[in-house]
Amino acid sequence: MVGFCKAMAGGLLFTLSLTLLGWEVLGQGNRWGKKGVSGEATVYLGQDRDTWRPLMHTTANLSEITSISSSFQIRTFDPEGLIFYGDTKNGEDWFVLSLKDGFPLMQVNKKDVPVSVAGGPKLNDGKWHTLELSNQGEFVILVVDGSSRLVVGMQSKQLEVPSGKLRIALGGILIDKEKIIVQFKPHMDGCVRDGNWLNLSFPWETEVEELWPCYENIQPGIYFPGTGLAIFNISVFLPEADHGLKIGIWGNFSQMHGTILSIKAPGQELMFTLAAKSKEVTLTFGEYKIQMKDVVKRLVMTFQTDLLQVLQDFDEPKTTTVSISPVRHPGYLTTWRDGRLAIGGLLGEGEDNVGSQFLTGCLEKVQIQGRDLDLDLSVRHISISPHSCPA
Ligand SMILES: *[C@@H]1O[C@H](CO)[C@@H](O)[C@H](O)[C@H]1NC(C)=O
Ligand SMILES: *[C@@H]1O[C@H](CO)[C@@H](O)[C@H](O)[C@H]1NC(C)=O
Ligand SMILES: *[C@@H]1O[C@H](CO)[C@@H](O)[C@H](O)[C@H]1NC(C)=O
Ligand SMILES: *[C@@H]1O[C@H](CO)[C@@H](O)[C@H](O)[C@H]1NC(C)=O
Repeated sequence: MVGFCKAMAGGLLFTLSLTLLGWEVLGQGNRWGKKGVSGEATVYLGQDRDTWRPLMHTTANLSEITSISSSFQIRTFDPEGLIFYGDTKNGEDWFVLSLKDGFPLMQVNKKDVPVSVAGGPKLNDGKWHTLELSNQGEFVILVVDGSSRLVVGMQSKQLEVPSGKLRIALGGILIDKEKIIVQFKPHMDGCVRDGNWLNLSFPWETEVEELWPCYENIQPGIYFPGTGLAIFNISVFLPEADHGLKIGIWGNFSQMHGTILSIKAPGQELMFTLAAKSKEVTLTFGEYKIQMKDVVKRLVMTFQTDLLQVLQDFDEPKTTTVSISPVRHPGYLTTWRDGRLAIGGLLGEGEDNVGSQFLTGCLEKVQIQGRDLDLDLSVRHISISPHSCPA
């Protein structure tokens, strides 16, 4: 299930041999640098690091650049995030490529004139797409999958002979984020591979100890590898207690292991948990306990002032409803409003984020109050992939 991309292994070997050779990475000094890696390496852009910080970068002399185009492949289900950055004159003129709402977004600043352009096809469909970026005269052109084009034109009065250095970076930027015209969330659950960057052949410097691998195949979902949880304040979903709380979870529960959901009000014991083990799902609510087998599609729980309703979808078109009523804890929704909800683990004591019995598995979709859950509203462990699961 968990396959490493072959290109990644190649990247690691390359790193190793460079280290053995004691090869000093060419270009600018080692201000950030750790190790050299090929520009063709497969890079998981969602790897943990300081926000806006690139995963890898390199520097070239403009006078030595022979090609005006770069190409690479990208694969993601994430609608938003940073892909590529380039600059000259030490960051005075810059270029940023990202996704926003799934569409490519290019932002360029040249001689203090910032321009942004978004469009083309949506790219966050989980398939590999080939992107080609080139600089032709006064135009920056992005070609997606050999056909769709996105063009930014910028006229400049004086003709400039390219000189000095060009810096390029993946997954982050080398300027202050305030300079960016259209703001977006930089962290992207996606992968880049097969990069050919201006035909440069020397290695890039990585800014992390080791590049994380990408899964061979992915499907949409939230993936919990069994090492952490995501915590939400319930008040975000429950503006008024008497409206109830509805939580829907899609996925094949017989492939999950560990705690799927837990809810805790401040100063109280855990009042609600949902856990999977040996193809069985156990729901615990106060003194009630329900055990369910073969839930392979969906589970919807509706908490109301005096009742909890659980709806299960099975493989065959069969739906069962279990109702627990009346609830023996009147007013529990009011205390929950000040509490926390965790996906992927048991909430710990105290107000810290320590959890236990972490989930291993893929939640295809989570909806709270009928809306898709946005993991960006949570405090979450770095190991959770918010938009993709291995397939
Ligand atoms: C760029 O040029 C400088 C001198 O101008 C040189 O020291 C450096 O090695 C060159 N870098 C590359 C990557 O060729
Ligand atoms: C790219 O570099 C290779 C050698 O590293 C060279 O043979 C080739 O002509 C270059 N291509 C372009 C478009 O500059
Ligand atoms: C759910 O997982 C089980 C166990 O791996 C598998 O046999 C079953 O086909 C899966 N069902 C669906 C609907 O994916
Ligand atoms: C929950 O609320 C507390 C207090 O208002 C705040 O400090 C914390 O950051 C919030 N957590 C999340 C995940 O929003």
